[in-house]
Amino acid sequence: VTINDKFPLKDNGFSNTIKNFDKPRHRWYYFKEGFSPSLVEFAIKKVDVKSNDLILDPFNGSGTVTLVGAENRINSIGIEVNPFASFLSKAKIGNVSLRSVLKEESLVIKNVKVNNLYSPLLNFSTFSKTSQNVKWLFNRNVLNPFHTAFTYTKQIRNIDVRNLFRLSLIGAALDNCNALRDGKCLKYRNGWEELKFGKNSFLESFTNRLSIIKEDIKESKVDGSKIEIINGDSRQILNDKIKQKFKLCITSPPYLNSFDYTDVYRPELFLGNFIRSQAELLSLRKKTLRSHAAVSSKNLGKIDFGVLYAKSIEQIVKQKETTWQRKIPIMIQSYFEDMSIMFENLKSNAEKDAQLWLVVSNSAYNDVELPVDLILADIGCKKGWKLEEIGVLRYLHKRGTKYSPDINCLRESVVIFRA
Ligand SMILES: C[S@@+](CC[C@H](N)C(=O)[O-])C[C@H]1O[C@@H](n2cnc3c(N)ncnc32)[C@H](O)[C@@H]1O
Repeated sequence: VTINDKFPLKDNGFSNTIKNFDKPRHRWYYFKEGFSPSLVEFAIKKVDVKSNDLILDPFNGSGTVTLVGAENRINSIGIEVNPFASFLSKAKIGNVSLRSVLKEESLVIKNVKVNNLYSPLLNFSTFSKTSQNVKWLFNRNVLNPFHTAFTYTKQIRNIDVRNLFRLSLIGAALDNCNALRDGKCLKYRNGWEELKFGKNSFLESFTNRLSIIKEDIKESKVDGSKIEIINGDSRQILNDKIKQKFKLCITSPPYLNSFDYTDVYRPELFLGNFIRSQAELLSLRKKTLRSHAAVSSKNLGKIDFGVLYAKSIEQIVKQKETTWQRKIPIMIQSYFEDMSIMFENLKSNAEKDAQLWLVVSNSAYNDVELPVDLILADIGCKKGWKLEEIGVLRYLHKRGTKYSPDINCLRESVVIFRA
């Protein structure tokens, strides 16, 4: 196997969103797990994708691939299980006039100033202050103005315009949330009780967000007509063939790091009314790729993931002392089972000279490094893909935990296959 340590994109921020902050539309919502549009543009050139070819991203996240597709007028399909992320991708490719945004902006603000609807999230879980909660995500005078404005957006007829407003409102609510996203969880801000987020700070964030959007829609035109964004489980959707075979599939499946996106994006899912109860959240979690600890040991299949997998798992199994550690081998097996299914389904949807680019990161459990990229290379080849190379994107530092030491060199890479 060729691990290319001199990959041209190494150490340039291609595997993350650092480079998105100044990119029109890409910067509308911070999605920490996203990759850079420059990576997608690089792959498009390398694979020589033409506008009638198809680019596919079965883990479309915040829609980087579909937005690059829309910017370059290339047929693209993005599949994403999380309805908030799917909504975000759609919002970014909407073509709207500045005039329609200006017209609605003043109406939304006027509405919040005059009316005060009660949010259905008041008293729900940790969303607001109750007699039981010692900490709460939103102050009432953030939740209520949010709900008032969000309700008003139902009157905006043009879906693309409505999406922009809803996105700015959700973003503004999160700017005024007492907690911040921190890796796998939400962490309360230092001195959060003193911050006193309220209606005024919420409206200020909303107008700030909308001004960035207004600036961008003036400058950057996109063509959403060649883009399809499907909200659902890609393991199933790709089982039935999609409308056209792809020339390039470029994607970043959830990393095998126990990160549960449904939990981390829980505020957005409830605020945007994508999810209405804990039961719905649980059912969404079940549709996600099994890369997190909420996996079950039931129905595990046959293990056939190659020698590297067998060696690493042998070391990891030795260390299973705590409940969490006992879950790790199950999670790892489930992840590779799901990825095997993906390789098979992708193969049947690929053109004969197609390429598959998978952005992944290795993981570490205690001090055992799991070479996810190499194991995926083994599995992909078993499923009929030919490995081109593993391009190193960077080496990551992993903070130690109670159970594991710091690790300085976890490889993040792009595994490139040919059909
Ligand atoms: C690493 S993120 C992708 C980020 C994306 N490249 C971007 O630039 O925004 C992985 C995404 O896979 C999604 N996902 C997890 N399981 C899925 C499934 N079964 N089908 C489709 N998407 C899934 C997660 O919700 C998450 O948004």
